[in-house]
Amino acid sequence: MALLEKVKIEEIRSSVNIVDVISQHVHLSKAGTNYLGLCPFHGEKTPSFNVNFQKQFYHCFGCGKSGDVFKFLEDYKDIPFREAVKEVADIAGIPLEIDTRPVQDNPNQAIYDLHNQAARIYHTVLTATEEGAKAREYLLNRGISDEIIEKFNIGLSLSDNDFLYQSVKQKFEESVLTNSGLITFAENRIFDSFRGRIMFPLNNEHGQVIAFSGRIWRSEDLDNKTLAKYKNSTTTPIFNKSEALYNLDRAAKSIKKTHEVYLMEGFMDVIAAYENGVSNAVASMGTALTEGHVRKLRSYAHKFILVYDGDKAGQNAIYKALNLLSSEDVEVVRIPDGLDPDEYNKAYPGALGTLMTTGRMAPVEFLMDHLRPANLTNLQAQLDFIDLIGPKIAAIESLTAQDAYIKRLVEILPDFEYNQVESAVNQRRENVVASQPIYDEPFMFDDGMTPPPPPPPEEDGYSYVEQTLVTPVPVMGAKKLSQIELSELQLLHRMIYHPSVMARVVATHDFQFVHRRYQQLFEVMKDLEEVEETSLMGQLTGEAAETFYEVLSTVNVPDDISDQEIDDLLKNFVKAAKGTRLQALQDQLVQAKQTGNRALELQLTLQIIAQKQQDGV
Ligand code: UTP
Ligand code: MN
Repeated sequence: MALLEKVKIEEIRSSVNIVDVISQHVHLSKAGTNYLGLCPFHGEKTPSFNVNFQKQFYHCFGCGKSGDVFKFLEDYKDIPFREAVKEVADIAGIPLEIDTRPVQDNPNQAIYDLHNQAARIYHTVLTATEEGAKAREYLLNRGISDEIIEKFNIGLSLSDNDFLYQSVKQKFEESVLTNSGLITFAENRIFDSFRGRIMFPLNNEHGQVIAFSGRIWRSEDLDNKTLAKYKNSTTTPIFNKSEALYNLDRAAKSIKKTHEVYLMEGFMDVIAAYENGVSNAVASMGTALTEGHVRKLRSYAHKFILVYDGDKAGQNAIYKALNLLSSEDVEVVRIPDGLDPDEYNKAYPGALGTLMTTGRMAPVEFLMDHLRPANLTNLQAQLDFIDLIGPKIAAIESLTAQDAYIKRLVEILPDFEYNQVESAVNQRRENVVASQPIYDEPFMFDDGMTPPPPPPPEEDGYSYVEQTLVTPVPVMGAKKLSQIELSELQLLHRMIYHPSVMARVVATHDFQFVHRRYQQLFEVMKDLEEVEETSLMGQLTGEAAETFYEVLSTVNVPDDISDQEIDDLLKNFVKAAKGTRLQALQDQLVQAKQTGNRALELQLTLQIIAQKQQDGV
């Protein structure tokens, strides 16, 4: 199929009005020059989904989803780009000869076909052979019914050397068999890679089988200590172990609906959850959670619930995952008695669903237990523990919850009273925002319900230059932004529409945005040949695209610019950066004083004096 021409795509895009197209799916009301509605991509009660008629894009201030008319249909209907183009062309009445079926000339198509065929063969072996009957007995013993076998397309590989090979060799080229990883070609032997195992197919988001995991089950194999319990497919052109998630294809619908995803360790756990009415659970393929997994899930889920094994390894994995998910909404479910979820399901039939839905705790509650030193009689151990947990408590939004956790901490610590712990937490509360070198999205808003962030510290004798900052026209549904965020947005806006500003910022030595997301967009733009509204709309993807639309939606400034305006904006960043550095040192100093570390106290005081001199404060 010929690629769609750029010009043709442009013609199609400009022949419809995005407001009309989105209105067919979302109820929009006019709000100023924009249109406003409840975001279809995340659950909200107060509208923050904006459709910009003039520039023909949408942007949600709640979840950040944004784009043009094609992107809307891609995300809303979960269809590929070319189908979205086709659909808009149909609306516009523009004839378009494109084939919207899955691409046939995909170089990996044969590997997909082989996997699908293998899954069918394995499934038939399990459900319709004598050996299969025995394996089904093993599964039934583990609580896996025929219904579950169907639902999860579970199969069985025979223990013959080359049963699969003999069944598929006529239909596939040798290179496909090799590349699939399902058949192993040794020097003078050809054999199946999976033999004598219960087969769990792993599908991609479109439901195509892309890999397998096989579990031993025969008693002689279970006794054989040299055999791995599970064997997974090797990396192939269609399977990347560190990004794949078991059950994501089946769970996607329910994840999108609830905006929540349960992360589990094993396939059996996911199946146990499903049997208990929890259909939005996924598992990685025997690897720890990776950034790749999170990226994939982020487009479906707003909340991650960790349900790992109750043993030590599982608890350590939760701790690691919490670090990886530090900027996400997370809850933790602890499985009691050191069991894994599947074992818990066995031990307490019917209880797993309740535990997963009502037994969730905040990360801080988990950490309070997990990080608690074995021996708390020692004063230093108590101080260190406060240092670890204090910032986590300070970061909690609800003051009532903070109070409850402080009380909990006081109960644990023999040498501290409520007001001592509270003031330690307060100390950190003030510094939670200011002490980070580059804010990694410190301000999380949900539909503007959360109070605005504290203003940047001003007690160091500086105030922000405001005279040339154009107060943004209040956009309905927009979240409250700090002064520095407004400056950043305004500067980005100027850079997009005025090449000279872009050039000037690029040439500014050591220049950096304060917030990571703005810095990221800046870096992407810097590498582009042409920075210009329409070409950016076409080229940006992911978070950079969302930030770009945030700029367009939030900033409303006159076309004229002056050098003075850019000077002032740049000055603000320098001041913010200085303030952040100084604040971080002062924060450490307070801690050093509290812990009575005299040497550190002196060293920090000297550093602060030097920093002030350097910054000219
Ligand atoms: P577990 O050892 O916790 O297995 O490994 P499990 O899920 O409880 O399995 P059952 O209940 O004994 O059948 C968790 C995950 O780690 C991977 C698999 O993905 C498994 O689901 N794993 C485990 C392997 O890849 N290889 C192994 O040998 C063991
Ligand atoms: Mn298990």
